[in-house]
Amino acid sequence: MKVAIIGAGFVGATTAQRIVERNLADVVLYDIVEGLPQGKALDMMESAPIWGFESSVSGTNDPEDLAGADIAVITSGIVRQPGMSRDDLLERNAAIVASVADHLLEHAPQAIIIVVTNPVDVLTHLTAAKVGTPKERILGMGGILDSGRFRYFLATELGVAQADVDAMVLGGHGDDMVPLPRFATVNGVSIEALLPKERIQKLVERTRSGGAEIVGYLKKGSAYYAPSAAVAQMVESIVRDQKRLLPCSAWCSGQYGITGQFVGVPVVLGRRGVEKIVELPLNADEMRELQTSSARVAARVARLRIGG
Ligand SMILES: NC(=O)c1ccc[n+]([C@@H]2O[C@H](COP(=O)([O-])OP(=O)(O)OC[C@H]3O[C@@H](n4cnc5c(N)ncnc54)[C@H](O)[C@@H]3O)[C@@H](O)[C@H]2O)c1
Repeated sequence: MKVAIIGAGFVGATTAQRIVERNLADVVLYDIVEGLPQGKALDMMESAPIWGFESSVSGTNDPEDLAGADIAVITSGIVRQPGMSRDDLLERNAAIVASVADHLLEHAPQAIIIVVTNPVDVLTHLTAAKVGTPKERILGMGGILDSGRFRYFLATELGVAQADVDAMVLGGHGDDMVPLPRFATVNGVSIEALLPKERIQKLVERTRSGGAEIVGYLKKGSAYYAPSAAVAQMVESIVRDQKRLLPCSAWCSGQYGITGQFVGVPVVLGRRGVEKIVELPLNADEMRELQTSSARVAARVARLRIGG
């Protein structure tokens, strides 16, 4: 399998590292900055004999090298600074992602596309409109990251193993994301039986501002360790046809009462891409939150005047 990663910055390069270190696929790392992808790829390959992996990574500035990619991951774009929301990146990142979509259309039209660049739900929509790929072969990463943050906060609060905590965050990857405490468990036990409501609400709020918390520390960049782990998990589920149930930004055609829109929902992810969108039995409040979040994404899409 060949994975093309567009953007050799923090998220792109760390994703490449995770993919080759797990021997998931060979990676081509593409960037417009000369030398950057080549240098990072060479550095990574020089770790292969030490760390012990057989997959390869190469760097390039030539879009023709994207040819033959089975999966393309779009991470090219600018990041937010303290005080900015993801939506503040919209216009500049839309222009970058549109040019990348042109390259993919020309050189790798068969690839399953994972969009990471923010605001991710809107830019997934833009990419789908430009590339014309069947909608089940294009998706955005956001929910796995948000859920990872929620799970980490819960595990730490409860003093239990990280691996025992399951939780999902749906909706747009933005300030109005929809964490679902009612569906969060520790090895099958509802967190509502383990934590008071107010504590849960505090962790929900921390999850919503989880990205800004990291930006606040880093000042000149945003998160990339957890984001790259989330992307690598999506790549693994596709490459190994694992059919994992993961929250991803996917094209809804009626599910959750949402039509013609990319938004974070639980999907079964396999070799063919989004194999199914799973509809959870949300209560009225959760459903309203999800639809409000989705409407906000729709408003951003309208701002860009993107077609379907
Ligand atoms: N969806 C999510 O959950 C999530 C999480 C983290 C970061 N992000 C987003 O991912 C993006 C990248 O973050 P980062 O930390 O890697 O940023 P970064 O600045 O480290 O890397 C971005 C890279 O994109 C490259 N680039 C710019 N224009 C390009 C083009 N036209 N073609 C190819 N490459 C181009 C830059 O040269 C740079 O190397 C940002 O938009 C960020 O907001 C999303």
